[in-house]
This record gives sequence, C-alpha cells and structure tokens, in this order.
Amino acid sequence: MTDEMKILILFAHPAFHKSIINRALLDAVRGLENVTINELYENYPDFFIDVEKEKKLLQEHDVIVWHHPFYWYSAPAIIKEWMDLVLQHGFAYGRNGFALQGKWAMSAVSTGGRQEVYTATGANHFSVNQFLAPFNQSATLCRMRYLPPFVTHGAHTITQAEIERQAAHYRELITGLRDGKYTEKDFENIEYSNHLTLTNA
Ligand SMILES: Cc1cc2nc3c(=O)[nH]c(=O)nc-3n(C[C@H](O)[C@H](O)[C@H](O)COP(=O)(O)O)c2cc1C
Repeated sequence: MTDEMKILILFAHPAFHKSIINRALLDAVRGLENVTINELYENYPDFFIDVEKEKKLLQEHDVIVWHHPFYWYSAPAIIKEWMDLVLQHGFAYGRNGFALQGKWAMSAVSTGGRQEVYTATGANHFSVNQFLAPFNQSATLCRMRYLPPFVTHGAHTITQAEIERQAAHYRELITGLRDGKYTEKDFENIEYSNHLTLTNA
C-alpha cells in the first residue's frame, strides 16, 4: 500500500441513540484527515442505498472498515443490504470486477459477550473470527486483503475507563492505517487488530 491511505468507515448502528461503546469509538475517529465516516442508518433511514455514490466512495478510499455492533453473530441489516447492492459483479468481483483490488478491508465490532464465550468450549462455540467468515471471504472475493478485526468485548460489563481505552486504541489503529504505519506482515498471525496497538501502547 502507499504511505498515505484513505480510510472509509461504513458505520451501522440501528439504535445509535442508545449506543455507548460504538459512540465512543466513532467519536474517537471523527474529524480525522483522510478518514471518511459513512453513517449508513443516518444516510439511508429508508434503506434506499445510493449505489453509485457508495461505489464512488469505495473507489476513493484504500481501506474499508465495516464498523458495527455484533447483531445475531453478524452485522445489523443495513450492512448486508449495502453488500448486496454495492458489491456488484463486474465492479467488485467477477472476470471484469477489479475496482477494489488491492484495498484492505477490516471489521470493527463490539459484542455483548466476553471473549471467553467466543471459544469452542464457550457458550457461543465459535470465535469472532469464525463468525466473521462471510466478511473475510467477501473481501477476498473482491480481491481485497481482509485484516483481523478490531473487537470490543463485553458490552454489558465493560467499564467507562475500558471504553475510553478502546476508543484510544481504535483511533491509534485508524490513524496508523492512514499513515501507512502497518504492512500486511504486521497483521499476520494476530487474532485481533487490537493487538497491534495494545503492544505498541
Ligand atoms: C438485536 C441484537 C442482537 C445482538 N446480537 C448479539 C450477538 O449475536 N452477540 C453478542 O455478543 N452481542 C449481541 N448483541 C449485543 C450488542 O452487540 C451490544 O449491545 C453492542 O455491541 C453494544 O454496543 P453499543 O454500546 O454501541 O450499543 C445484540 C444486541 C442486539 C440489540
């Protein structure tokens, strides 16, 4: 990737007025140069997604972040609608679909469940990375490099101090991506992108 990257955050929270975690995370990256926040529920309250506008946004950015709370082990519905409509054959994938080739993609998710329930022996049986397989493979089909997710666990028990720490790490990750601080190698063999900022903090 180039030294300076443009980041597109596709944000979806259907009850943003009640959000604590994602509000803090989003506020931490608001107003950053070369970081575009696209609030899908706010922009498309009726779900009529402006496909051409979204395709243009994708083309103008280097890193695409799907940022949302975990809903039913996946994303809120508008993210799926966005994928269904915007990631078109001949644009995003297929024999003539190269628009996203070489870009990076990442999920930034918050979960109600703590990390220990997202294990083979835990209540949710699968890891967050396993649940995110459709995002991983969709990005791969679109010739993008899917990075490990940025995850905030334990929404119901997390403290305000931990939320603020997470928000600071999210800001560090997004600015690091923007400033070309990371290479693809940095993301190898790590479960969550959180680890990159936590170890450097
Ligand atoms: C409809 C719905 C579905 C949810 N599904 C999950 C889930 O599958 N796994 C999980 O860990 N938490 C689940 N949660 C909890 C949310 O992920 C959690 O409330 C959210 O991440 C908190 O972020 P916020 O403070 O920004 O709202 C769900 C919540 C709602 C309302």
